[in-house]
Amino acid sequence: MRDSMDKVRHCLICAALVSLSATASDLHHGQLVYNGTCIACHGSDGTGGLPGVPDLTGKTGLLSQDDAILLGRMADGFQTPGSSMVMPPKGGNPALTDADLKAVLKYMRHEFQQDPQTRRKTQ
Ligand code: HEC
Repeated sequence: MRDSMDKVRHCLICAALVSLSATASDLHHGQLVYNGTCIACHGSDGTGGLPGVPDLTGKTGLLSQDDAILLGRMADGFQTPGSSMVMPPKGGNPALTDADLKAVLKYMRHEFQQDPQTRRKTQ
């Protein structure tokens, strides 16, 4: 009986470790996608490097919208009426998969949703 409880505990710990490393590698993957495709317009800090590109930073900013809305806009492209520039489908990189877009969304939220002071402390 004791033995089997130990096994259960061991499995739980393994599962926790696996999901932790999946999270870390998602973020890393998201960073690669961001730096490869999105950074040109959105800038390294998410505030937007070109006219017409919105600031994505802040806790209550654009990234606080639902996943479904954001992933749809990232996949299909998006233009606010009257905006001077479009967000191209998949940032103009058709090779990106749904998994890439999910990972990059996670990365952007992780990097850009904290207020600048917290971000500085955790860097
Ligand atoms: C060619 C420039 C360009 C590239 C490259 C680009 N974007 Fe954008 N993105 C924009 C512009 C411009 C907007 C604002 C569009 C508007 O509101 O009319 C935008 C808006 C967004 C938004 C906010 C959507 C909303 O609901 O307001 C998200 C999220 C986003 N981009 C993610 C990404 C991701 C992820 C990538 C890389 C895969 C990427 N962008 C690459 C130009 C770009």
